[in-house]
Order: sequence, then C-alpha cells, then structure tokens
Amino acid sequence: MKEKFLINGGRQLSGEIVVEASKNAYLPILAGCVLCDEKVTFLNAPEFLDIENMCAILKLLGARVRRVGAILELDMGGLKNQKISFEYTNKLRASIFLLGALLGKFRQAVISYPGGCNIGTRPIDIHISAFKSLGVKVVERHGYIFCNAQNMRAGKVVFPSVSVGATESLVMSAVLLKGKTTLYNSAREPEVVELCKFLNAMGAKIYGAGTDVIEIYGVKKLRGVEFSVQSDRIIAGTHLLLGALAGKNLKIVGAKRAENERLFDILDGCACDIFEDDEGVVISAVGRSDALKFVETLPYPNFPTDLQPQLMAFATLAKGTSVIRENLFENRFNHVMEYTKMGADILVKDRIAIVRGVEKLFGADVFATDLRAGAGLVIAGLLAEGYTTVHNVEFIDRGYERLEEKYAKLGADIKRVKD
Ligand code: UD1
Repeated sequence: MKEKFLINGGRQLSGEIVVEASKNAYLPILAGCVLCDEKVTFLNAPEFLDIENMCAILKLLGARVRRVGAILELDMGGLKNQKISFEYTNKLRASIFLLGALLGKFRQAVISYPGGCNIGTRPIDIHISAFKSLGVKVVERHGYIFCNAQNMRAGKVVFPSVSVGATESLVMSAVLLKGKTTLYNSAREPEVVELCKFLNAMGAKIYGAGTDVIEIYGVKKLRGVEFSVQSDRIIAGTHLLLGALAGKNLKIVGAKRAENERLFDILDGCACDIFEDDEGVVISAVGRSDALKFVETLPYPNFPTDLQPQLMAFATLAKGTSVIRENLFENRFNHVMEYTKMGADILVKDRIAIVRGVEKLFGADVFATDLRAGAGLVIAGLLAEGYTTVHNVEFIDRGYERLEEKYAKLGADIKRVKD
C-alpha cells in the first residue's frame, strides 16, 4: 500500500527524540548471524523495512526468526539454503553482504544481483575481485553470481578503493577460514567496527577494525550471543540538521560527536546552540545560518554521503551560496528537483551542487527517490511555509521507524495517509 506524509510546515520542535539503533550496522550483523549455528538475540532492533527484508532473507535460508517488540531472536540452527533469488535481493542492496557470510559458512553461494536505493550504478566488482583473490571461483550468469569457495584460503586482500560493504563481506568470509587474513585499504566506518565487535562477541578473532588494516584469525566455530547495536549516526545527523533549523531545546538522545565529527564541525559554525552530555545533544536554532561554503562527501571519518540530501535541505535556507560535492555516488542529486519545486535555488554541474540560499521554502508535492532524499524532503517540508506532501514514504520506512509519529511528538504537524 502506497503512503504519503502530509506536512504543514513552520512549527518549532522541542522535547526529546531517541535515535534508533543503526540500520547500516544491523544489516551486516544480521548477515553475520549466518556464520553461527546457535541462537542470537538482539535487544534493540528497530522496525526498519530493511531489517524486516534482511530477516525475510534469513528465513529463506532456513533461520527461525521471532520478534517481540524490539527484541529479535534468531535461531540459526537449521540453515540449509545457499541461494538467494531476485525477489529478495531486489528489495535490499545489503543482501550482497550475505555472500561473504554464506561463503564463510557453506563454501558456496548463489545470489542474484542486489537492488537498493536509486543513487547510482553501485557495482559489486570490489567484492568479487576480493573473493577471487582468496581463491573463490566466481561465475556471473543470467543475473546470478555463482560462487564456489572450496579452494578459498586465508591470505591478503588489497581493496582498490574503499568499500564499506566489501570490507564487511570479506571480514565475514574469513572469520571461519583457517589461518590469518589481512584486509588492506579497509573501510573505517563505525558500522564496520560494530560488525567486528559483534563477531568477536560470538568468538571471532578480528583486530584492527576502525583502521584501514583489518586482521582476521580464523576460528572453528562461533557461538550465540545477546547483543545491542549502537545508535544510528545518520538518523542522529538527520535530527541534528532539523534541530539546527527548527529546534527549541530539542534533545536528541543517542547523538554523538565522536561519530559525526564533520557534521558537528559544520553545526559549530552555524546559527544554533548545541549542548552535549553523556546521553546526547540538546539543540536550538538561533536564527538563519550562513552558507556552508564547501562540503564534500567522502568515506569515514569525512562527511557521509548518507547525510548529503539532509545537509542540502539545510543549505537551501542558509544565507549565501553553499557548494556541495558528492564523491561517493554518481546519481545522488535526485532530491534537487524536488527541493526546487519548493522554491530552492540549486544548480547542479556533474557532481557539484551550487545552492543559493533562499529566505523561505514553500510547500509542494514532492517525491522521495531514495531513503535519505526522503528524509531531506521531510526536513524541507517541516521548514516550508504551507502544506507539503511527501510521496513514496516506503523509501523513508527503510531506515526510519515511524518518523512522522516521532516528529509529531516534538510539535510537528505531520501525518501519514494513504496515497
Ligand atoms: C554503504 C551503506 C550506504 C552508504 C555507503 C557509503 C550499508 C547497508 N550501506 O553502502 O548507506 O551510502 O556505504 O558510505 O551499509 N563500489 C564499487 N564497486 C564495489 C563496491 C562499491 O565501485 O564493488 C563503489 C560504489 O559505487 C560507491 C563506493 O564504491 O561509489 C562506496 O560504496 P560502498 O562503500 O561499497 O557502499 P555500500 O557498502 O554499498
């Protein structure tokens, strides 16, 4: 069923909002459960559509999955299937993470090419060439990737460029492999660190996560655990950018400077008051901010591509001209057209967006084209004068849990209706 958000913008937001657990940490961690034969319990699983889709794949593989509120129990004892078909992978790009886990566990896997957000071609050549360098035979035919890892050996992998997914997938493939595997030029994202923390809690021996060299010493078996995943830095960043524009003593529980340094650096220079403590951040807007000058997206610890659309929403209302360069994905400016409908002044040339701040945005009918673009449109709608309709809410539901209810509790006029 298609749904949309109806937003009447212009309200101040105050009160408390709690950031959910990280989607991008949960997805590889759920894939990592494949490596274990026992029961794994998660204590804080948000009801994101992407998490539900990953659980559907685990069920397809033979896992028993039970959810009671935020508690998610997986019984990994009965895994038998190693094939994931198109109707599953099409819904979730992160399904590709399962390749590493399946190869680690069964030494073979068949997976359809992954789908996901419409933000670029998103190839998987880095994953494939890394597996090949450890001895995996890979045949790509009829839209499927057939992998045979009978001759897979621990060894060295040098990633040609930084890939979060490839790093995570290779870590999973090596955990049960005899000997030491070293991954060079690994992604340093906090979600990679969280995955390794989880696998280590199950008995893996992984060192160096958070640096660009990760060492994995193979172990024979992983055991079941109880685990809670850290808060989602992209959701925290979304709320922070909204708070910097519309917040009045808005408390964001779970927002941490340590994982969002570049965003905090930007907000430190903006017209907002930020107070941090152990629980999170309290933020208030104090007028109109100056333009951002130049911001570019790059792998962690630099500014994340997953906050670029939300940052652009912020820039549309700043004083002066901001320049935003998107380096990670070649097609991640779909939201520009939608912001323009709302009165924003944005010019795109290749991977650069030049955003000339306007005094006001106006409500319009806009369409989410991917998850974070959708979040950016919600921010823009909450700031705009008049009514905004955000269509394609299913994209937003992939990584935000009932966002409209949470913002409504802060004083926003936003509701979900059938489209
Ligand atoms: C993950 C995140 C996604 C985020 C992205 C970059 C999850 C579930 N998703 O996606 O939200 O936007 O990191 O921070 O964690 N690339 C190749 N070949 C490959 C793999 C990647 O060319 O085999 C390119 C991609 O097209 C992109 C860049 O490398 O330009 C980085 O992609 P990657 O880090 O792999 O992103 P994901 O893991 O898919």
